[in-house]
Amino acid sequence: SGKKDLLGLRLLITAGTNVEALDPVRLVTNRATGRMGYAVAEAAVARGAEVTLVTGPTQLDLPTGLAAVERINTGLEMYEAVMKHFSESDVYIGAAAVSDYRPKETHKQKLKKSDGPLLVEFVRNPDIIATCGEKRAPHQVLIGFAAETENVLENARGKLIRKKCDLFVANDVTQQGAGFGVDTNIVTFVSHEGDESLPMLPKSEVANRILDKMLQLREGRFVK
Ligand code: C5P
Repeated sequence: SGKKDLLGLRLLITAGTNVEALDPVRLVTNRATGRMGYAVAEAAVARGAEVTLVTGPTQLDLPTGLAAVERINTGLEMYEAVMKHFSESDVYIGAAAVSDYRPKETHKQKLKKSDGPLLVEFVRNPDIIATCGEKRAPHQVLIGFAAETENVLENARGKLIRKKCDLFVANDVTQQGAGFGVDTNIVTFVSHEGDESLPMLPKSEVANRILDKMLQLREGRFVK
């Protein structure tokens, strides 16, 4: 049922959080639940797309009908999984909250506490979507997400340009009904054509609007 307007399109979608181990017991992670990325994957499958989902750990059930799934924990693992599939994709949607940093060292044994403070050195993880932006072929469409707490649109526009994407889906995670762990979102589409604010919508509807916008950006690509 419904329109199959994504038939023949290969989508690569990342979703959820990353988990970085400090030692065999302790983890560093973030608040992303995977809801937005899973909603996009589910909507895309329903519209006939061939979807590869790269997912961090989540409580959610996997959408049915995926072409492939890569389950990862760390930012580096997510990077590797994305690079394996990127060149075979028509569209990349980076909905995951990738760890910007990982502990420089994962200790083999549980760290012992002392009376003093604990200093942990973190090193940068690769920027996955920016790497895709560097490697992109002309036909590929790249979509990123910017969850912000301030200067939402300026930050999203900066990322759109720096990471060589076609669209950023910006949201202010401090707003009621937006961001982590809720079923609705309030987003603005930031593209090279300008900004478009959407009302508060269920994440399933936001997902379909993102896919509509993606199709529009693809068409623009081919007529230009
Ligand atoms: O710069 P910031 O992390 O806010 O950008 C968010 C966007 O960049 C999201 O689409 C996210 O998936 C992607 N990202 C990434 N690799 C990183 C950090 C963010 O792909 N290391």
